[in-house]
Amino acid sequence: MDLPRSFTIRERSHRIHNPLTSRKLAGLGEALDPPPGTRVLDLACGSGELLCTWARDHRITGTGVDISTAFLAKARARATELDVADQVTFIHGDASDHVADAPADIASCVGATWIGGGVAGTVDLLRRSLRPGGLMLIGEPYWRRQPPDQATVEGCHATSETDFRVLPDLLAQFGDLGCDVVQLVLADQDSWDSYVAAQWLNIRRWLDANPDDELAEDLRAELTEAPVRHARYQREYLGWGIFVLMNR
Ligand SMILES: C[S@@+](CC[C@H](N)C(=O)[O-])C[C@H]1O[C@@H](n2cnc3c(N)ncnc32)[C@H](O)[C@@H]1O
Repeated sequence: MDLPRSFTIRERSHRIHNPLTSRKLAGLGEALDPPPGTRVLDLACGSGELLCTWARDHRITGTGVDISTAFLAKARARATELDVADQVTFIHGDASDHVADAPADIASCVGATWIGGGVAGTVDLLRRSLRPGGLMLIGEPYWRRQPPDQATVEGCHATSETDFRVLPDLLAQFGDLGCDVVQLVLADQDSWDSYVAAQWLNIRRWLDANPDDELAEDLRAELTEAPVRHARYQREYLGWGIFVLMNR
């Protein structure tokens, strides 16, 4: 089990595999101010930047689970670089049924709610690992503006308008699931630009080095289309945020 290679080519330079900047991620850590020793479970942890930087900045301890061997290798290297390797553990595996051995103070799934079959299922999954009174972090897209047509929906990597909600409706959904929203941090157009433009540079450099690879044709086509597609659709219509929840 591993993440398809195109993903790791596209995001091989990324420490954060979502449209938040390191400053925004650090700001969320500052807002939550977890005490030293806080136990964090991060499902679909990617390259482990949340766990590693919060281990450095707040002395949390944490476990990350992800299917990508490439991203997990980066996570372990980052833990060593930040001198937090004794505080964080990274597990290769499917997070869709992962439950912590001991209840976590913070349970998160940032940018991968498909592991729970959607937002509601992911909240349920995180609840299974959470201590009473703990925090859940959900990273999820939302419509900044209602898409006017199916081209816009697909330009935002969705299949149906119902894949996402507008922000007030997403916040209301968390309430319907029995959660208080107690903090949030949102991407903005600048942070979207930084996230996706770094993908374009990764793809271009990879194409230059691997012109005969079996993925080259598809990634060439993607790079040709991606900037216009981003400007026309995603940049205008898609929002993204991390939402911090507590059970009522
Ligand atoms: C958008 S990235 C987000 C990564 C990280 N949370 C972040 O924000 O930087 C989605 C991640 O989900 C991981 N993933 C996808 N399906 C998974 C699964 N079933 N179990 C564990 N990880 C999964 C991918 O390997 C990838 O690292």
